[in-house]
Amino acid sequence: MTEITFLLNGETVRVAAEPTRTLLDWIREDRGLTGTKEGCNEGDCGACTVVVTDDLGVKALNSCILFLPQLHGKAVRTVEGFKGPNGEMHPVQQAMIDHHGSQCGFCTPGFISSMVAGHQQGRTDHDVVLAGNLCRCTGYAPIIRAAEAAEAAEAADSPSWIDDDSAEVAAAPLAFAPETEDELAAWVEANPEATLIAGATDVGLWVTKQMRDLKTVAFLNRCADLREIEIGASAIRIGAGVTMTKLRELLAVYHPSYAEMVRRYASEQVRNAATLGGNIANGSPIGDNPPALIALGATLHLRKGAVRRDLPIEDFFLDYGRQDREPGEYVSGVTIPKSAPALRVYKLSKRFDQDISAVLGAFNVTVESGTVATARIAFGGMAGIPKRAAHVEAALVGKSWTEATIEAAIAGFAKDFTPMTDMRGSAGYRLESAQNMLRRYFADLSGKPVNVLEVHA
Ligand SMILES: Cc1cc2nc3c(=O)[nH]c(=O)nc-3n(C[C@H](O)[C@H](O)[C@H](O)COP(=O)(O)OP(=O)(O)OC[C@H]3O[C@@H](n4cnc5c(N)ncnc54)[C@H](O)[C@@H]3O)c2cc1C
Ligand code: FES
Ligand code: FES
Repeated sequence: MTEITFLLNGETVRVAAEPTRTLLDWIREDRGLTGTKEGCNEGDCGACTVVVTDDLGVKALNSCILFLPQLHGKAVRTVEGFKGPNGEMHPVQQAMIDHHGSQCGFCTPGFISSMVAGHQQGRTDHDVVLAGNLCRCTGYAPIIRAAEAAEAAEAADSPSWIDDDSAEVAAAPLAFAPETEDELAAWVEANPEATLIAGATDVGLWVTKQMRDLKTVAFLNRCADLREIEIGASAIRIGAGVTMTKLRELLAVYHPSYAEMVRRYASEQVRNAATLGGNIANGSPIGDNPPALIALGATLHLRKGAVRRDLPIEDFFLDYGRQDREPGEYVSGVTIPKSAPALRVYKLSKRFDQDISAVLGAFNVTVESGTVATARIAFGGMAGIPKRAAHVEAALVGKSWTEATIEAAIAGFAKDFTPMTDMRGSAGYRLESAQNMLRRYFADLSGKPVNVLEVHA
């Protein structure tokens, strides 16, 4: 079997490229590195967090939904690898002791891993860095205090043994991990039944939870072309392989409301792996990016062999579980406008952090001389696909931008959507929430505070 190469706690390792063996299983079962824990085995709890360094920098990832070939040419550190050559502790380890950040200790290796990655990145937004790590007994205050202490000046230098991970690891090409789009296009066309694996934050669960045998797979994470972002005069083309973390950084500059939603998309560990292309291609009715992209009027780029095809992104979603994508075709990227000052994206979920949306509303209404000129409004969680609110839009365009117009347009929601009842919300709750999001949008554009972090009783 083909081998992959990576650094494990500073040591070069060569292992068989078992396509769907998770890093967590391998480090625990084959290497005896049992410091890294298995909690949920589905990316939710962070007990399995490890630190991975590659050409994009240092990041925390959930090893339970990370397949071995995704690590080819990278450097991995588990909790056993954070101490220095003379046994000295990493500053975050010392800070966790000093601030009593651990009780039973089950979650602690995962927290330490996230904190080491955050420390290496110079992060100070510890709530965000640690939102993907669950602790059942210590409580978060001592852990956050430890992260703040480690950030303090005297401890802020990153230890040299961790910095060594940024050295390039020689990695031979892998047949099932194309490095350019031309190679990828040829491979996918020749293997139309294969499962494409980008970040594996969906596909990982097919293996760990559904025990599916994926047979032929291709890994997209080595395809540099797919990770490109091209910023033009009026539009931005984003490659399908761009991660949620990189997307958030980009959107913070051009579309801050959308960026704020991405901050609440899963967790740091998941955003470091999950790609925009994967979130579109999976066609989920509760995927967070598609409604925002529809509201922006994004163009989707597909490719099959040498043939490229563009379509308005809303036309990609045909029906529940069915997208306009042929066998052998893949998502290459998406183009969005550079500016859309009226874009607002509202995510409603049971938990603030790391939760799937019950309803996600994206609004982009332009008003000229007090009259609605254009309206693009799209929702996730309201139908079997991410969908535009066509009746609501029609009730707004050409009308004066007033509260009365908004109230009149509210009736359109019941014509546009017949939401379902599930564990995230009842049909009635969803409909009412969507209606209230339009009211919120009006208040938002009128300059009123509407963000849950800004509104006070
Ligand atoms: C703990 C957790 C929390 C999550 N929270 C959220 C959330 O808040 N919001 C949300 O929207 N999602 C969430 N997800 C779901 C998941 O992160 C997203 O759907 C993600 O964007 C998938 O991207 P990926 O790169 O990991 O895709 P993968 O898992 O690699 O692939 C997903 C699907 O897309 C296909 N695919 C991938 N790339 C391409 C391509 N370029 N062309 C064609 N097909 C392709 C794959 O074959 C597969 O069918 C969460 C997942 C986990 C595990
Ligand atoms: S074991 Fe819970 S996130 Fe991996
Ligand atoms: S210390 Fe027990 S779960 Fe966190």
